[in-house]
Amino acid sequence: MPGPGVPVACGRGEPRAYTGTVKRVALLGATGSIGLQALQVIEEHPELELAAAASGSQSLDGLAPLTQVGGDLTDLLERAEPDVVLNAVVGFAGLPATLWTLERGVDLALANKESLVAAGELALDAQRRGGGRILPVDSEHSAAFQCLDGRDPETVHSLVLTASGGPFRGRDRAELDAVTPAEALAHPTWNMGPKVTVDSATLMNKGLEVIEAHFLFGLEYERIEVVVHPTSVVHALVRFRDGAALAHLGYPDMRVPISYALTYPERAATPVDPLDFSQGLILEFDPPDEDAFPCLRLARAAGERGGTAPCVLNAANEVAVDAFLAGELPFTGIPEVVERTLGAIDTAPAADLDHLVAQDAEARRVASGLRREAVR
Ligand SMILES: NC(=O)c1ccc[n+]([C@@H]2O[C@H](COP(=O)([O-])OP(=O)(O)OC[C@H]3O[C@@H](n4cnc5c(N)ncnc54)[C@H](OP(=O)(O)O)[C@@H]3O)[C@@H](O)[C@H]2O)c1
Repeated sequence: MPGPGVPVACGRGEPRAYTGTVKRVALLGATGSIGLQALQVIEEHPELELAAAASGSQSLDGLAPLTQVGGDLTDLLERAEPDVVLNAVVGFAGLPATLWTLERGVDLALANKESLVAAGELALDAQRRGGGRILPVDSEHSAAFQCLDGRDPETVHSLVLTASGGPFRGRDRAELDAVTPAEALAHPTWNMGPKVTVDSATLMNKGLEVIEAHFLFGLEYERIEVVVHPTSVVHALVRFRDGAALAHLGYPDMRVPISYALTYPERAATPVDPLDFSQGLILEFDPPDEDAFPCLRLARAAGERGGTAPCVLNAANEVAVDAFLAGELPFTGIPEVVERTLGAIDTAPAADLDHLVAQDAEARRVASGLRREAVR
């Protein structure tokens, strides 16, 4: 567990020195939404070289000198000897690569939030031993990382993560029962893969991000707040103890945080437009509705419970989202499956990767049973 207020996004030990002029990038999840945008970023920056690429099932023929489809991605990383690993795999499947990267002191550009959620304490232990940096790719965490900018954590009052509110913002719980996967996939401001888009609609995404921020920045849960901000222009905001608050603004475009993480600390150019105030810019903020969207509350509670609880939450959510997308579970069944799975499993401090893999499997077994119940 990180100490209160200790920012750990930058490694504590000595990172493996990067001395070359070209950074060798290993891109995991190369066929996904983040992966494809990362390929554009790499293409535009001659100092970035795609050394290796991986996917879950889609072909990667000729994309990189080394490629791997499925299987143990750490095999590919061993061969690739990257300077930076961009982990853009979706879900718990990204965990071994996160641990491999941190253990070896290689920079980790982290989009795969599920690995930090499920294994935050193990990941931080690996980072302490390896000494590498975690460079957040999630836009809110990239924003917070930049607002914090290595400042003394003692000066931080609290962190505010913004949520667009998703396509169902403003609806109450009764109105959410009959929403369809197609409606959930129509995100108002971000164009993302299906799992994270559904997570945004349930607000589980924001809940996972609260846990992610806890581990990345060493902030206690009560110092991490979520506000709904429909236009997604402000990505995060840090309040300091003197009453000042620093915010990070920009149009919602993942190429910005991807580029920031891959070219850190240089802040290379991107084709994204600068903010334009000529048409006016409305910044609206509201508290989230946790009655209509209980996933946020469930994630926060699992984070506070600690140990393997976030791993169980994540696994149950992956099963429930899958069931919803398959038309086998109503939208409001997602928090129900997550809550009942968390209630059915005894959690404990996470011992090692095998322990987490076992807890993940157990949570999937319980959640899958609940999914089958919903189909009958
Ligand atoms: N998209 C965004 O704007 C965004 C923003 C912030 C954070 N994130 C996070 O970034 C991660 C990726 O999101 P995404 O939207 O890019 O997802 P996505 O479009 O669904 O892409 C997922 C990628 O992971 C690969 N993959 C799936 N299972 C795998 C496995 N077992 N082994 C290896 N690769 C596997 C997929 O390969 P195949 O194509 O072969 O299945 C694909 O390349 C998620 O953790 C998400 O929360 C995304």
